[in-house]
Amino acid sequence: MCGIFCYIGMQDAVALVMDGLKKLEYRGYDSAGIAINNNGILIHKRQGKLEALSSSVPPAFRGSKVAIGHTRWATHGSPNIVNAHPHVSADGKIAMVHNGIIENYETFRSSFGETDIQCEGETDSEVLVKYIALQYQEPFQNLEEVVAKVLSEVQGSYSLVIMEESKPHKIIAARRGSPLVVGRSDDGYYLASDILPILPHTRKVVYLEDGEIVVIENNQLQIFDFSYQQKQAEFQYLNIDLHSADKTGYKHYMLKEIHEQPKALRRGHGQQMSNDNLLPELQPFMETISKAGRIIILGCGTSWHAGLVAEYVIEKLCRVPVEVEYASEFRYRDPVIYADDVIVALSQSGETADTLVALEEAKKHGALLYGVVNVPTSSIARLVDVYSNIFAGPEISVASTKAFICQLNALYLFAIKLGKYNGNLSPDYSLSVLKELRQVPDILKNYLSYIVYRIKNIAMIYSHVNHTLFLGRGLQFPIALEGALKLKEVSYIHAEGYPAAEMKHGPIALIEKGWPVIIIALKSDPHYKKVLSNIEEIKARGGSVIGIISEGDESIKDNVENWIEIPRISFLLSPMFTVIPMQLLAYYIGLHKGCDIDKPRNLAKSVTVE
Ligand code: M6R
Repeated sequence: MCGIFCYIGMQDAVALVMDGLKKLEYRGYDSAGIAINNNGILIHKRQGKLEALSSSVPPAFRGSKVAIGHTRWATHGSPNIVNAHPHVSADGKIAMVHNGIIENYETFRSSFGETDIQCEGETDSEVLVKYIALQYQEPFQNLEEVVAKVLSEVQGSYSLVIMEESKPHKIIAARRGSPLVVGRSDDGYYLASDILPILPHTRKVVYLEDGEIVVIENNQLQIFDFSYQQKQAEFQYLNIDLHSADKTGYKHYMLKEIHEQPKALRRGHGQQMSNDNLLPELQPFMETISKAGRIIILGCGTSWHAGLVAEYVIEKLCRVPVEVEYASEFRYRDPVIYADDVIVALSQSGETADTLVALEEAKKHGALLYGVVNVPTSSIARLVDVYSNIFAGPEISVASTKAFICQLNALYLFAIKLGKYNGNLSPDYSLSVLKELRQVPDILKNYLSYIVYRIKNIAMIYSHVNHTLFLGRGLQFPIALEGALKLKEVSYIHAEGYPAAEMKHGPIALIEKGWPVIIIALKSDPHYKKVLSNIEEIKARGGSVIGIISEGDESIKDNVENWIEIPRISFLLSPMFTVIPMQLLAYYIGLHKGCDIDKPRNLAKSVTVE
């Protein structure tokens, strides 16, 4: 939520900040702003996407060697120009960009009572910068001391960067609960919410820890804690690939990322399945994991859906009880967590606040924490005892696609590894699953090459609808949920996902003539016949059935209005294929409706507020 990119050094700061913000726009895109300090602080803000800001930068901004920039996803206050960042102190001499939520900002605001300080907008951030400025008086010697003092009073999560008019060669930043990375190159320092926009400039970085303040002044960097005690700055050299973050000819990132899935899986296989030592990073923890009384999987959105698939797979292959929880619900219901539980956190970004705080809660109870993430430098990866990288490469589209399939891949490997380790899985069976898993990228590549045309046509037929129902049983139920989520996000069509058998307990009341129901009915499903009965129930009420069916299942084609085949594959691995029509249907329906596919309204890629 909200992206911060700042620069201080020898280059043209505005150009660098605009470029950096562009790469962070996935974090929020309802408004954006920039501040420079070139013989005085100047602020420029625009409502809407970054383009509105970058295309209107006034000439006076050119040549500044320091700039702080922000792209916003509104929490407090509507997405308008007044609430856009940077915010400034009452005298305009201190400017700040902020990501996160200041929970006790009303307390700070109440101290303005005796003064003539007025807030123009509704944000917690504006209150904070005005409060910091108010506190900036004797006995404090410098702004960083004040920032340390104020932040020790703040409740909430944040990363922020501050500039002071009288110190044009200085930037102050701090974090608690929201990520902030500082990169150092020969020409200066870069600060960002995420490593991605820093990587083209430098690989030498320091990840700020919670409760740290960084002061960069005259090309020197110092780190303090909130008691204003100096700490050692520990830079690390990141040896990570800069995967292409361009659209490479695709109209949207979402489409590119759907088509990248075979390649992403292959990349994962190369790293995670070498010499059949699956997920080698887990090896030192296998004894603990195999003794776990329970595995609890946490995640949000698409990651939660991947967790639901994993629940079926792990229970089947390992016979260990698995619970899957929305991270946001888990944290605040005083959950029962035992020291012999294993907590698996699923998160593409590794920054989702709900998942992070749930993990922090679990950590207090001594359970082993295992992260499955796409960003190895993320907060979740750094918090857990051990993590696996899913190797999806940067996922830019707000609607998650390739991360899901790569999460599934890692979770299948986890289940196979654990099943073998705890003796529930015979060597022969595990070998046969692994063999099939290795074939998935090739089968998927071929599948994508021919299925798109059919799905485009079906998408045309259904793009006018207002409501849909997605149904699936067992392993396919999470895919029904994922199909509904994708359609909602990308096309704004109301969609509900349900277990197919649950339909008769309520949702069937919705079905009337022409109501579209997307139902996964695979011949390999042990309960295939029951799904066929569900199809009959829908048809009897006039519903229009789109079947996601097995290749070669000719008889079902007469029973549905439209069908989309998936290739021959075991039922166990079929979610990696049934999800593809879901992704493509959402994409092409959204496209047909003219929706903003990569940046759907009201959403952000990385949800770093609770
Ligand atoms: O980065 P995470 O996997 O933790 O993100 C979780 C959800 O915010 C995310 O999956 C969201 O639901 C996507 N927009 C789904 O397409």
